Amino acid sequence: MKTVDLRSDTVTKPSPGMRRAMAEAEVGDDVFEDDPSINLLQERAAMLMGKEAALFVPSGTMGNAIAIKTHTKPGDEILLDADGHSMLYEVGLPATIAQVLTRPFRSETGVPDVDSVAGSIHDESLHAPGTTLLMLENTHNRAGGTVIPLEVHRALFALAGSRGLAIHLDGARLFNAAAATGIPAAEYAACADSVTFCLSKGLGCPVGSVLCGTRAFIARARRVRKMLGGGMRQAGILAAAGLYALEHNVARLADDHANAKRLARGLAEVPGLTPDTLDPPTNMVYFNTDGSAEAVAAALKDQGVLCNATGPNRIRMVTHLDVEARDIDRAVAAMCDVRARLPEA
Ligand SMILES: Cc1ncc(COP(=O)(O)O)c(C=O)c1O
Repeated sequence: MKTVDLRSDTVTKPSPGMRRAMAEAEVGDDVFEDDPSINLLQERAAMLMGKEAALFVPSGTMGNAIAIKTHTKPGDEILLDADGHSMLYEVGLPATIAQVLTRPFRSETGVPDVDSVAGSIHDESLHAPGTTLLMLENTHNRAGGTVIPLEVHRALFALAGSRGLAIHLDGARLFNAAAATGIPAAEYAACADSVTFCLSKGLGCPVGSVLCGTRAFIARARRVRKMLGGGMRQAGILAAAGLYALEHNVARLADDHANAKRLARGLAEVPGLTPDTLDPPTNMVYFNTDGSAEAVAAALKDQGVLCNATGPNRIRMVTHLDVEARDIDRAVAAMCDVRARLPEA
């Protein structure tokens, strides 16, 4: 029986077509900027994001690390969402790698409040570190795959410009935001000085993210990537997967969103479960359990359905290209069964 793995959209395996593209990729030494597949991926990525240049990096985490370090100097302050990925899940890299002070702001469902961000900005003084960078996350993972509306991006960009801050957009799932709203990714990226998007999430690649920005920014970012050990050699086999994904796996993100809705609605029918919404904005479904989330996750695992307990009574399920509508129905049926066996859950 197929395992239905809903832990994350990072669990996808490269499809036969993607593997073929990888096997046939032209490669060269990318530290010498000689890898044609990487060069092409970077060109396409820059074009899609409306930026001058791009840099292929091994992961979203490294893309964020490079961006923070390139935009700031040690001792600066950066603003980021209290529930943002860089705040919670990147092993403290702003403090360790970039040596910056992090000032978290609270957001309602992942959408920053422009006035409270404005109130958190410090001008450099004898006493205060200057705030030099605002980090944004669209879609917002921990807030349920929510989309920051374009008008909020625009207001934050105007604010940042007027106060001399740069903006880095962690767009790990920016193509999900674009698929959900019909607004091209480049329009969101236009409201940021730099943006990363991940190939290894909804786009289905085994490895990789791309950092995009001005030519001068990317030239400095390339040195930071080298410093962090992210200068890869014949990595065109990985870039070929990215090129394949940009061609074949972007339009289909809408299927993941439809499956997330199907899942939320199915789970809402199971007694003792409360999805945050019946209409998840993108590919993430968060719900509360009456009893222990760990117990539910363990019982589901026995039935071949994997999910993430993200809190004592909270579970996250994520749809992706290795999950079809019938897998969603199986996950819901398994959940009904678990609920019957674990009535306190
Ligand atoms: C919003 C967001 N940013 C960054 C990352 C980091 O990506 P990676 O796992 O490739 O380091 C993730 C990973 O899930 C994420 O959800």
